[in-house]
Amino acid sequence: MSRPFVFCTLMALMLVPAAAAFALAPDAPSKEAWGETNDGRSIERYTLTNAAGAEVDVITWGAIITRIVVPDRTGKKDDVVLGFDTLAGYLGQHPYFGAVVGRYGNRIAKGRFTLDGKTYTLATNNGPNSLHGGIKGFDKQVWQARPLASADGQAIELTYVSKDGEEGYPGTLKTKVTYTLTPSSVLRIQYEATTDKDTVLNITNHSYFNLAGQAHGDILKHDLQLDADRFTPVDATLIPTGEIKPVAGTPFDFRTPHAIGARINADDEQIKFGGGYDHNFVLNGQMGTLRRAARVVEPSTGRVLEVFTTEPGVQFYTGNFLDGTVKGKGGRAYPKRSAFCLETQHFPDSPNHPEFPSTVLKAGDTYKSTTEFRFTTDKAR
Ligand code: GLA
Repeated sequence: MSRPFVFCTLMALMLVPAAAAFALAPDAPSKEAWGETNDGRSIERYTLTNAAGAEVDVITWGAIITRIVVPDRTGKKDDVVLGFDTLAGYLGQHPYFGAVVGRYGNRIAKGRFTLDGKTYTLATNNGPNSLHGGIKGFDKQVWQARPLASADGQAIELTYVSKDGEEGYPGTLKTKVTYTLTPSSVLRIQYEATTDKDTVLNITNHSYFNLAGQAHGDILKHDLQLDADRFTPVDATLIPTGEIKPVAGTPFDFRTPHAIGARINADDEQIKFGGGYDHNFVLNGQMGTLRRAARVVEPSTGRVLEVFTTEPGVQFYTGNFLDGTVKGKGGRAYPKRSAFCLETQHFPDSPNHPEFPSTVLKAGDTYKSTTEFRFTTDKAR
């Protein structure tokens, strides 16, 4: 064996592990075993951290965000999302706590749509309608995880391949979700998907926020601003009527900050249909460009959440269906309106509304969508 060959081989042997270590440490998220599914598949939990003291836990079941810890204006840290302490809670019945929702977030009327001349039938799991991807949506699947040490902060990439026909949807859909926690406490969520047959999709994250800290009462005193001049009114089953209505003069006008609770019991048909807020807002600005959708301030702690997205809409949901029966972290009950969701999305029931922005993904095209949850604090008032 020649000397240069031995030298090069030795160098290569030394460099490969060094390169691998560099790719993952010291900035890769930590990983731990987090139990097993009922059919014996191992679930892992990853923790993303940054130097500002934020922490985000993500599990490979449902690509669920189980914990988001951020400081308040005095530096006191708390967990600001609802969820469970163990996997068992997430394997049981719960209203999509922290989950990635797909293939179709929100409702499709009567579980039916037509695409390329063919009618597809989905499970109706929400009254007469299909909700959040059906019986076994993305929130109830095991995702493959790959930790990343990106230049923007610790990240975790999760992938799931949904088979052609799964939950009634056409096409083998390969989905990738990347969560990145940046040094300035931006939790970035990037979605990407490809299909081998034309299909429809509308992917979102269903985190339930309480910026005072999870299990710290209701969210009615949080101040909300929504960058939406219009919303999509619904029928009694929460399917859009097709109207795009200005928020001006309605309880849906959050163009300037209002307490979430200020008009939540207003004598208004839309509020009654939703049992509070459970509506899609049509975001201002250009869909496809990352722009602000919402700003929420919790006055007592000063925690601020800003939501930025490339999506055309956001479902503002005030936890109206929470009823205290689910026992969450620390065994604490989650009563009605103890959290809010800001589910960035295309409009509900778009496959049956050709006038709405399209949710069709063509075979060979790549779906891309980005949402950011930006955490800061304001000054004492
Ligand atoms: C969405 C829906 C709500 C409800 C929740 C989950 O926000 O719009 O009506 O189904 O998900 O409970």
